[in-house]
Amino acid sequence: MLYGADYNPDQWPEDIWPEDVALMREAGVTTVSLGIFSWSRLQPSPDTWDFAWLDRIIDLLHAGGIGVNLATATASAPPWMTTAHPDILAADESGSPYWHGSRQHHSPASPTWRRLAAELVRRLAERYGDHPGVVMWHVDNELGCHLNEDFSDAARDAFRVWLEKRYGSVDALNDAWGTAFWSQRYGSLDEVFPPRNAPFIRNPSQVLDYKRFMSDTWLDVFLDQKRIIRAAGAPQPVSTNMMGAFPPADYASWAPHIDVITDDCYPDPLDPQRRFTTAFQRDLVRSLKRGQPWILMEQATDAVNWRPSNPSKMPGQLAAETAQSIGRGADGIMFFQWRQSRAGAEKFHSAMVPQAGTRTRTWQEAVALGERLAELPELPSPGDDAPVALVFDWENWWAVEGEGHPTRLDYLQLVRDWHAALVCRGIMVDLVPPERVDSRYRLAIAPFLYLLRDAGAAALTSFVEGGGVLAAGPFTDIVDENDRFRDGGFLTQLGPALGVAFEDFRPLVPPARDVVAERAGEEGSAGAGSDQVAAPIGGVGASAAFDGRLRGSGTFVAEAVWADDAEEVATFASGPSEGRPAVTRRAHGSGSAWYLATMPDAEAIDGVLEALLDDAGVAGELDDVPAGVEVARRGELLTVINHGTEPVEVTAPGTLLGTGEAFGTRALAPQEFAFLRAPR
Ligand code: GLA
Repeated sequence: MLYGADYNPDQWPEDIWPEDVALMREAGVTTVSLGIFSWSRLQPSPDTWDFAWLDRIIDLLHAGGIGVNLATATASAPPWMTTAHPDILAADESGSPYWHGSRQHHSPASPTWRRLAAELVRRLAERYGDHPGVVMWHVDNELGCHLNEDFSDAARDAFRVWLEKRYGSVDALNDAWGTAFWSQRYGSLDEVFPPRNAPFIRNPSQVLDYKRFMSDTWLDVFLDQKRIIRAAGAPQPVSTNMMGAFPPADYASWAPHIDVITDDCYPDPLDPQRRFTTAFQRDLVRSLKRGQPWILMEQATDAVNWRPSNPSKMPGQLAAETAQSIGRGADGIMFFQWRQSRAGAEKFHSAMVPQAGTRTRTWQEAVALGERLAELPELPSPGDDAPVALVFDWENWWAVEGEGHPTRLDYLQLVRDWHAALVCRGIMVDLVPPERVDSRYRLAIAPFLYLLRDAGAAALTSFVEGGGVLAAGPFTDIVDENDRFRDGGFLTQLGPALGVAFEDFRPLVPPARDVVAERAGEEGSAGAGSDQVAAPIGGVGASAAFDGRLRGSGTFVAEAVWADDAEEVATFASGPSEGRPAVTRRAHGSGSAWYLATMPDAEAIDGVLEALLDDAGVAGELDDVPAGVEVARRGELLTVINHGTEPVEVTAPGTLLGTGEAFGTRALAPQEFAFLRAPR
């Protein structure tokens, strides 16, 4: 179990370093991430290099038994680079450059930045690749975090190269993007730009490709640096810290290239859904590399400083959130950062060693946590623990939230709603793209899978044929990978398995006049382009009741579908599709395929899920999961956590790790957790 933090010794005089190492030993720190923002110290001017300080601190840490996760230090380019090479600067949608003075102002596509970064990484890898204290490589930092999109000339040029590779010819691009519409036909790739500022809805296929391009560009930075590290003969695992469900980076496509998945997670203390949001993030990163543990590379010991207001964690919360990570697959618990900065933009951010020193609750909790982690035996690898696959797909995310659609929706939140309903029942879930749904799962739920690739459709269909239970919909199987309608209507790929044909979307939004009334005083025409119709983001909007074997209400859409060859499990009792099927089921191959023509609301989701779990023969880990309690399985390890603010009685199988005592039925105090050995 790794335990530690980002360590920025270059922000401090050297005489503090020995004290740092002594305190690290006291806290049980095993590993620190070093040098993440040290470029301007390592290369103070174009022709000057200074590695002596880094030699000294790595040696000191190593002598103290602390391993180093060595950063490639490229996350913030030194100011001299802006003046010497202005072409390294990224640009916003209007083409204006970002400037230094914060961090991550460079264009990841800039050949100059890539050349200068490569030189730094090569020197680091050659110098430290065989240092026994270096245990891992930390490429850059949170790739794409602040700079999600880059519209610089460097990005423009790289986008054209990327398109050339994808399409081979401008004719193929014209076809994929549907440029016959609105006179967008290109004569050559030199006429194509990233989707910069435009007066109205931009070509959705172009926007989608640009998002793919940005994600691939950040991945390319990682691959470049990994290649350099390997070329220097450095054998350590190479990683880069992810950010969970981070919209701009398709981590599912990155994961095969990354030796160990590492993730940063900063739950919002004011988020009432916090424990579900974090459970979702942990499940997502665990699912990226099935069967392998991951490392929580950053969390805060206490408050962050970058939200509008930044309350402290409640006592015990840090340990409970840590237990959640371990229960859901983490083999390393690290923080941002070791010692609180005394200057700069993050000086109010918590750390393991706060500005107020070691008398603080934060320090004491960090030390207690270190002790508790050190006592843990070797934990089983997360394996085939999840009977349920919840389809979560970045390309679909980008496309389904595009402009000009029947209704606006928050894809992440909608997938999270399904996830939370499963977590409440103590059922483990993997979050995977459709292509990774296979016979190891018993139930697969694919909500709002608007963009469905051929391979994804084939995987979902063969999953059902092989005996799985699939629940699809609504707003699923609408476009191909280029965001174009397929020939033959909608549900063209999954329709045969579902036994359902599609007529119309029928969004559930409040009548336009209500919205206009709400916006009294606002100017603007009601024509195309005005935002006249309210968006039911987060479930706000009208609903439609459904009735039959299942009852409840649906939100977002009440699609009109024909159940040509499927059982009507429920029918719309109100709304725009009254009398039409709301939930259908069809036996297909050895499995069954359900279609939901609406998104069940917070109450209805329980009943629908119950029916799906029943069909798939899936049960939760505990007979009863009390409110506020979370249970997670990781091989033989069962983690039980009381996230609530009141004590709660829990009955669970297995024995406590450490003492071997049977757990039985016992009360867990608020934020208390237990690790149990509980073979299936
Ligand atoms: C991110 C960064 C860190 C630091 C923290 C603060 O995760 O990687 O450098 O800025 O946020 O919460």
